[in-house]
Amino acid sequence: MSFSDPAQRAAELRSLLHEHAHRYYVLDEPEIPDAEYDRLFQELQAIEAAHPELLSPDSPTQRVLGQVLAGFSPVTHTVAMLSIRTETDTEASGALAFDARVRKELDWGPEQPPVEYAAELKFDGLAINLRYEHGILVQAATRGDGYTGEDVTQNIRTIGQIPLRLRGPFNGGSAPSVLEVRGEVYMRRDAFDTLNERQRSRGEKTFVNPRNAAAGAVRQLDPRIAAQRPLSFYAYGIGDVQDWSVPDTHSTLLDALATMGMPVCTDRTVALGATGLLAFYEAIRARRDALPFDIDGIVYKVNSRALQQRMGFVSREPRWAVAHKYPAQEQVTRLLGIDVQVGRTGKLTPVAKLEPVFVGGTTVSNATLHNEDEARRKDVRVGDSVIVRRAGDVIPEVVGRVPSQSVDETSRGPVFDLFDQLGGQCPACGSAIVREEGEVDWRCSGGLYCPAQRKQAILHFASRRAMDIEGLGDKLVDQLVGEGDEKALIHTLADLYNLRAEQLSNLDRMGGRSADNLIAALENSKQTTLGRFLFSLGIRHVGETTAKDLAKHFGSLDRLMNASADELLQVHDVGPVVAHSLHTFFDQPHNREVIAQLRVAGITWQESDGAAASTGPQPLASTTWVLTGTLPTLSRDQAKEIIEAAGGKVTGSVSKKTNFVLAGSEAGSKLEKAKELGITVMDEAEFLRHCANPGDDAIGFEGQRASGI
Ligand code: IVH
Repeated sequence: MSFSDPAQRAAELRSLLHEHAHRYYVLDEPEIPDAEYDRLFQELQAIEAAHPELLSPDSPTQRVLGQVLAGFSPVTHTVAMLSIRTETDTEASGALAFDARVRKELDWGPEQPPVEYAAELKFDGLAINLRYEHGILVQAATRGDGYTGEDVTQNIRTIGQIPLRLRGPFNGGSAPSVLEVRGEVYMRRDAFDTLNERQRSRGEKTFVNPRNAAAGAVRQLDPRIAAQRPLSFYAYGIGDVQDWSVPDTHSTLLDALATMGMPVCTDRTVALGATGLLAFYEAIRARRDALPFDIDGIVYKVNSRALQQRMGFVSREPRWAVAHKYPAQEQVTRLLGIDVQVGRTGKLTPVAKLEPVFVGGTTVSNATLHNEDEARRKDVRVGDSVIVRRAGDVIPEVVGRVPSQSVDETSRGPVFDLFDQLGGQCPACGSAIVREEGEVDWRCSGGLYCPAQRKQAILHFASRRAMDIEGLGDKLVDQLVGEGDEKALIHTLADLYNLRAEQLSNLDRMGGRSADNLIAALENSKQTTLGRFLFSLGIRHVGETTAKDLAKHFGSLDRLMNASADELLQVHDVGPVVAHSLHTFFDQPHNREVIAQLRVAGITWQESDGAAASTGPQPLASTTWVLTGTLPTLSRDQAKEIIEAAGGKVTGSVSKKTNFVLAGSEAGSKLEKAKELGITVMDEAEFLRHCANPGDDAIGFEGQRASGI
């Protein structure tokens, strides 16, 4: 884009940036994603660099942004909370350029050794200053404009992770008279999803991303509401300090803060030179989606505090630190249309068709709009500029639209109306669509008559955690199910087991070899467990865990199918909703028929007498396990199955309740946490030995159990 009059464009950009910064910092209601803001910011920077005469003191590039909100008392920071420079350059050059600048600044020639850096995650939340006096938390403040922030002590105190009192021992004897700890308040993705799910089910406004949800919670005037929004915190630096000798390096400073009880992220490293920085950048990039929270990049800091002091600051940024960003997880694109997809249980989901856009590391052209109410709340219409978010492994979603002043409201597309758009009929089978009272979703009433539902049901049945039929993928199922017509090879799940290789090899992209493989995979799947079989039936509200619990409790399918509501409610984690869903499912003659056909086709499992009878040897009974890293021979699912079969439980994170950690190679923070808490760690060989013979365990398993674990 080129603009003939740079002065005019600069003025326009300034007012745009002021407006967006106000929305973002003051109102917590941003209209555009960060990447878009960064682009405008950089465009202004470029104009100002080319035309220094246009630089004015009120330019957003010349000061730290944000104002004090009405409602909270202002706090003047004793030590300013500055920002850091961002490298948005191509991947390698971010680290290379920073390292080169540092060496130049320090006047280090090529003969000098590589600079030692501390590299850590750039958490995507909001900066907070925690002021501890004599070890007690006396104040928490937001960054504000960097010099004056807001007093949010009440809300910050509700974050369980933040210590109200620092833990000793302290170097120098007693707690420092003043220690300001700086870090990021953020919301984990799972907490964010749960929060939005709750908002959605109550018909309330959803949050755009975890950062906005966290910022909103911190700025809640009512601390009781803030307390219901689960926030987390990581410390990454310090502000004012009195009577404490600060460690010599940034990395040992963070170690010291961790010792005092501050949450410090274990995903950090000390890196040598640009190569070391890049290695960390790449390693974290590979795991970015798997992290439980959003990050937008890596922060590189010169490790030696003496060197940091020597380098100092330039305008609002330290010369010794830089943020190296990853591709943005939110982008703006155009909404081309809204399709409706039919899910496994008939749920109709509006799906946004988008002009393809690169976001969160992949090109996205479809994104969910969740349901009709939500599409309307977000007021997205065909032709609008919308914000797409793709973070972690979750499916991309449209989080809102970018209102544009130049668009005439009357010329926008119509409000999305799912019923009207579909003419009241399921797009896959033409059956009537229904929305029951109190439900947010429209559903197709066609059940397994509907080819779309049938297709999803088959894909679920064949999935890894269900019957685990390898090779039964999306395109193949499409062909097997067809349009639901006479020619379809499959009408019910049981038909899968009547397929013959000759029929399969006639299909598109199916050679004789793959046809034989699929027949073999089907044959293999017949020997299963009751839990897997139940899960594979795709009964509403019966997930993998509930299916296992039901199998364990009843031990036999017939006993489960004939169970009364009261009997069902006795199963761990089964409430009225699940009980009702089970009854509805087993009440339908059609479902009973398919189950009977599947059994005739040869599907079998080991039945037992259920919870009433002894379940056989349970060497791992009442123990809780956490799996981490890659095991040499077992997959995670296999290890989990072994533990559960032996009566143990597997959870996702290490806590005081964890009894054992089974660790493979490249185990990360969970392993460190386990060591910190003194939890027994086993490798695969020890684990297998232990399961086979827990009695003569060298690590003293019996001893631990005797001591009450
Ligand atoms: S250091 C003087 N380290 O990114 C250096 N900042 O402009 C002060 N952030 O809003 C910042 N993770 O809240 C630092 N590991 C990290 C960080 C981090 C996130 C945020 C910070 C600030 C922005 C930096």
